[in-house]
Amino acid sequence: MADVIELLEHDHREVEQMFTEYEQAATPEDKRAIVDNIIIELVRHSEAEEQAVYPMIRSHIDNGDAIVEHEIDEHSQAERLMKSLEGMDPNNPEFGVLMGQLMTAIKEHVAEEENVVFPQFRQTVSPEELDKLGKTVQALKKIVPTHPHPMAPDHPPFNALLAPGTALVDRVRDLLSGRGTS
Ligand SMILES: [Fe+2]
Repeated sequence: MADVIELLEHDHREVEQMFTEYEQAATPEDKRAIVDNIIIELVRHSEAEEQAVYPMIRSHIDNGDAIVEHEIDEHSQAERLMKSLEGMDPNNPEFGVLMGQLMTAIKEHVAEEENVVFPQFRQTVSPEELDKLGKTVQALKKIVPTHPHPMAPDHPPFNALLAPGTALVDRVRDLLSGRGTS
């Protein structure tokens, strides 16, 4: 069983693998299919991070608020790019330009998280808590949206649906612990 950091880093490797597949894709149809998968994976990953992990970063890491604001800002920039890519013909030259921007943005996000944020997170959060968060992230990834919604970075529609903001995470925790099911 992987802890939350191992899981998120595994997601990062998967996305990097998909970027390579995109760069090697021979036809516009192949590119379209790979980009659709990239979008699904990235939106799920970002949602799970925002719902389950960023609140812990805020409360556990020095300067956590600033780190989280910065990461959310990066997520919403990426979501804007993905929103444009979702509706774009892969034959459009702009498609490759936007994908180039998306790949650069995500590679920076990955490097920041893995080099700066996650090491601090691992130092300040107990192994038990990291394991528990891992289970939460896995459960969240099954139910969060798979389409980008870039318009309101501070108040994503998904959060609004489930307001107050932490309710979803609480619900997932209850689900995992079996609380409220008997
Ligand atoms: Fe990430």
